[in-house]
Amino acid sequence: MPAFTHAVIGCGRVAPNHVDGFSALPDTVVAWACDRDIDQARALALDCGIEHVTDDPREVLEDPDVDAVSIAVDHAQHAELASAALRSGKHVLLEKPLALDVAAGTALTELAQQTGKLLSVVSQHRYDPVVRAVRRWIADGLLGRLVSSTVDLQCARTHDYYGDSYWRGSWAGEGGSAVINQGYHALDVTRWLHGDLDVVAAAARTSAMREVMETEDTLAAVLRSPDGALVTYNVTVAGVVTWRTRIGVVGTEGSVLFDLDHPGTLHLAEGGAELRRAAEEVRQRGEPPAPPGKGYYGISHRRQIAEFREAARGGDVRMSAGAQEGLGMLRLLNRLYEHVRTGVPAANGAPADAERAAPATEIAAAGRE
Ligand SMILES: NC(=O)c1ccc[n+]([C@@H]2O[C@H](COP(=O)([O-])OP(=O)(O)OC[C@H]3O[C@@H](n4cnc5c(N)ncnc54)[C@H](O)[C@@H]3O)[C@@H](O)[C@H]2O)c1
Repeated sequence: MPAFTHAVIGCGRVAPNHVDGFSALPDTVVAWACDRDIDQARALALDCGIEHVTDDPREVLEDPDVDAVSIAVDHAQHAELASAALRSGKHVLLEKPLALDVAAGTALTELAQQTGKLLSVVSQHRYDPVVRAVRRWIADGLLGRLVSSTVDLQCARTHDYYGDSYWRGSWAGEGGSAVINQGYHALDVTRWLHGDLDVVAAAARTSAMREVMETEDTLAAVLRSPDGALVTYNVTVAGVVTWRTRIGVVGTEGSVLFDLDHPGTLHLAEGGAELRRAAEEVRQRGEPPAPPGKGYYGISHRRQIAEFREAARGGDVRMSAGAQEGLGMLRLLNRLYEHVRTGVPAANGAPADAERAAPATEIAAAGRE
């Protein structure tokens, strides 16, 4: 019997990245493909050589051999399915976001603590080599004091993408669109670099696909870090470029500009000699080819999954994408949408210190990564 048995619940677009990540690990098997649409489960099982299929998550959760599950369904069901999995004694790798409302997300993180099971929300771009490098440079002071960032995501989503989906483009199923779905990772990485973010201003619109979506296809915001750095964040899914994410970080001693897409290109690193040398190293290293699935999901599901597996078997590892990080993101999303709805800044939600995203500089001071 393998040392670690995994199951995937939800066999849609992102599921192959989960199967790929777990299948690549030694002594690990993906034993179940579960989708309430049994044809989806069968198709994934056939493609990936998965032994069992079912349309009922309960069958997976009742299997005593299953150590952990990936949950990759619509946003509205994240909290309920993850909670059922934790209660059944399974570790949970949950696709983003943690939940749709903060109360449900908080309850879920508490449940993970009570059950002693691992709950990790997918934030794969935190594991991208270029993102890790930039975070290290900030921590090491190579950029000086951060003063501003620009974050820009444009991608092209079609009428069919929303019209053919049972959950996308609806507040009830997706909880928003451009930000909570496509823009999630750019915001998450920015928050990871800067620390938790206040919302200074935000506006959203549905500009192109009103017949098929009630949620936003475009959002622009000004955010502020705990150190006072100002971040402009723009996301639209109504463009013509398939996918392009670009993040620029400006500090008093250095400036960087990079993509989150695959490959995670470093476009610019200007500053002192040490920064330029470190940037050259990143450029020389290059990146492995993308796994199956959409290229713009990147290469790092594999990395987060390897860390998840290590943490789940009790290894001495503090996950870069733990449950509290997912909760912090959920709170920020909530503040953003609240600001858009009411036109006034929502209270920060006063997260306890332990839950606050530590900026890269604090990580350096604490000597941990
Ligand atoms: N990390 C990333 O880069 C990334 C990329 C894409 C999607 N996602 C996230 O993954 C999740 C799924 O997105 P997707 O694009 O794969 O969606 P999808 O619509 O392609 O697939 C979802 C699947 O879940 C199934 N499902 C729904 N309810 C179920 C239930 N109760 N039990 C079993 N199966 C059920 C549906 O039948 C469907 O096949 C979302 O949270 C999304 O935000 C993350």
